[in-house]
Amino acid sequence: MRLASAIRPATDREVPLAVDVLRRAGFGTQVARLLEFPRRSPDGAILVAEGDGASVIGVACCAAFANTGWIGALGVAPEARRRGLGAALTEAAVRWLRGRGARTVLLYATEAGRPVYEQLGFVAEERAVAWRGVAGAAPPIDLQRLGDGDRQRLKSLDQAVTGERRDNVLDTIHPLAGVAVGGGPYGLAGWAIASPWGAGTAIAALAPEQGVALMAAATSGPAAGTLIVPDGNQAASDALHAWRFVRLNDALRMRLGPVVAWNPEQQFGLFNLFWG
Ligand SMILES: CC(C)(COP(=O)(O)OP(=O)(O)OC[C@H]1O[C@@H](n2cnc3c(N)ncnc32)[C@H](O)[C@@H]1OP(=O)(O)O)[C@@H](O)C(=O)NCCC(=O)NCCS
Repeated sequence: MRLASAIRPATDREVPLAVDVLRRAGFGTQVARLLEFPRRSPDGAILVAEGDGASVIGVACCAAFANTGWIGALGVAPEARRRGLGAALTEAAVRWLRGRGARTVLLYATEAGRPVYEQLGFVAEERAVAWRGVAGAAPPIDLQRLGDGDRQRLKSLDQAVTGERRDNVLDTIHPLAGVAVGGGPYGLAGWAIASPWGAGTAIAALAPEQGVALMAAATSGPAAGTLIVPDGNQAASDALHAWRFVRLNDALRMRLGPVVAWNPEQQFGLFNLFWG
């Protein structure tokens, strides 16, 4: 029997309830930060499934970019699982994103989530792994400080690397603090920026040695730093092994809709496992 639970955007009162469900679903104590963009942006949504007595028993968040859309922070309260709610939340999120122009819907799946998404037609792409540590020796590349004046160049390179137009999310990062490599057809050949939403530093670079130098700058210590890297980026994986980073967890990128022209070998860090 399919659970007939109402799924709709969360009211302000329900946002803390949604955070609580996600914590109980294993998303960690920092998950509230991840909800800030879907909560505040007109291009985002926090969808909730209502339980008895005005409770929240399931959550799915959306972020819509131009032709693509992401589903993230999807969780069902442990006591409400295996009743079709995960699938219903996913379907509702796909509808929401398609209504905002997404041709391809993307997500990073856990092992528990994968079968739910497969039944809805999502196909597996490749894994991204979260690592933690302090970088060692890095290629000798000149790095410059990134500033607000670099925003357009940063967006152009991001589009070339991800195949997506993530302007709305990149425009919300103030100040634009980080490091970059100059040159190349986009005016920047690489950049590394931290974000307010997750542990990872996002890093894009056209060439392997530039990307590895930016990874090293982002995790130079003394405290350990986090980098989330697509498995398809061999240069990044080799550097993380050489630096003896510790593997924290991983998730599988899945897609519903046409292939996106992304270049995982040019992604040396993802913001998070919500929208990459
Ligand atoms: C992944 C998750 C969201 C799935 O939620 P859910 O509500 O249990 O999902 P569904 O009920 O739609 O599907 C789960 C399973 O129950 C089965 N199911 C669905 N309705 C059912 C019913 N009425 N009776 C029995 N089983 C049922 C589904 O076929 C599916 O089985 P499978 O895993 O063997 O393929 C939930 O386990 C969760 O929150 N996990 C922790 C967080 C997480 O991993 N989130 C995913 C991030 S990508």
